[in-house]
Amino acid sequence: MFPIERPRRLRQNPTLRAMVQETRLAVDELIYPLFVRPGQGVQQPIAAMPGIFQWSVDRALEHAAIVRETGVNCFLFFGIPAHKDAIGSGAWDPEGVVPQALRAFRRHFPDAVLIADLCLCEYTDHGHCGVVDAQGRILNDPTLDLLARAAVVLAEAGADVIAPSDMMDGRVARIRQALDEAGLQTVPILSYAAKFASAFYGPFREAAENAPAFGDRRTYQMDPANRREAIKEVLLDIAEGADLVMVKPALPYLDVLREVRERVLVPVVAYQVSGEFAMIKGAAQHGWIDERRAVEETLTAIRRAGADLIITYYAPEVGRWLQQG
Ligand code: PBG
Repeated sequence: MFPIERPRRLRQNPTLRAMVQETRLAVDELIYPLFVRPGQGVQQPIAAMPGIFQWSVDRALEHAAIVRETGVNCFLFFGIPAHKDAIGSGAWDPEGVVPQALRAFRRHFPDAVLIADLCLCEYTDHGHCGVVDAQGRILNDPTLDLLARAAVVLAEAGADVIAPSDMMDGRVARIRQALDEAGLQTVPILSYAAKFASAFYGPFREAAENAPAFGDRRTYQMDPANRREAIKEVLLDIAEGADLVMVKPALPYLDVLREVRERVLVPVVAYQVSGEFAMIKGAAQHGWIDERRAVEETLTAIRRAGADLIITYYAPEVGRWLQQG
């Protein structure tokens, strides 16, 4: 006890503090989301996410070349299709905007890791992540074959990783089977395993144009109140063959991240979602918060809680800050 114990002894100067620092951010653990849409020369701002854009493939390539200079070399793709329909058939169109982007990125950046988000919600006219019946119920099992089909198209277009974000039961097993049957045994699955029905996806609905036309996602995404159930979801997805698992959102769910980290052996990914980004960005733009410190603090907390990898719209800025030291 004090006066023998004095924790401040190890905080006396920056070098000493760096030596005893337990958690560090590195650029290799960051994943940067990209929104791609049809067209040429398109750079469409997203109002609720200043600095984030929807890109046509040509412009996405230019943007990615700049992002790669910061050291970030892993991209997560979302598509805004030209047409939507009831079953989301654009999701398995080999000429869709995401397969086009994947082929272009594969060609230009052979060493980049390309992750394809896999979901129907950007492709359905009702905006739900699954097939809907006449009563407006989201049907689980009929959705699985559609997801499996889309997974094969995305992997054949060049995705290194398939990341299902729909929260249908049993989809990891079905996708694994479909990939294997198509000769894509080496393509890993990153499962959005514990994805909560969150208010923090708000800005993303504008970015991906996937707001549900009726109801909400609470019959498939998780209740934010449930920690045990999150563990169950994660263990089920690993049993079905998930190679990496995700907790999403990140900052409001640090307890879930910690427990998942302690229970599983696969890499754990956290998604700092659009609303988490917008809160920091908005406050910073008003001069109410120091942006760099707030971003580094939240990302460090997410890593400290147990995330191995973080998906964040701040990836390029963080890469730049890390280079600056
Ligand atoms: C949809 C999907 C969502 C996000 C990623 N994939 C939104 C949702 O479920 O409504 C959210 C990402 C973010 O908010 O940054 N499959």
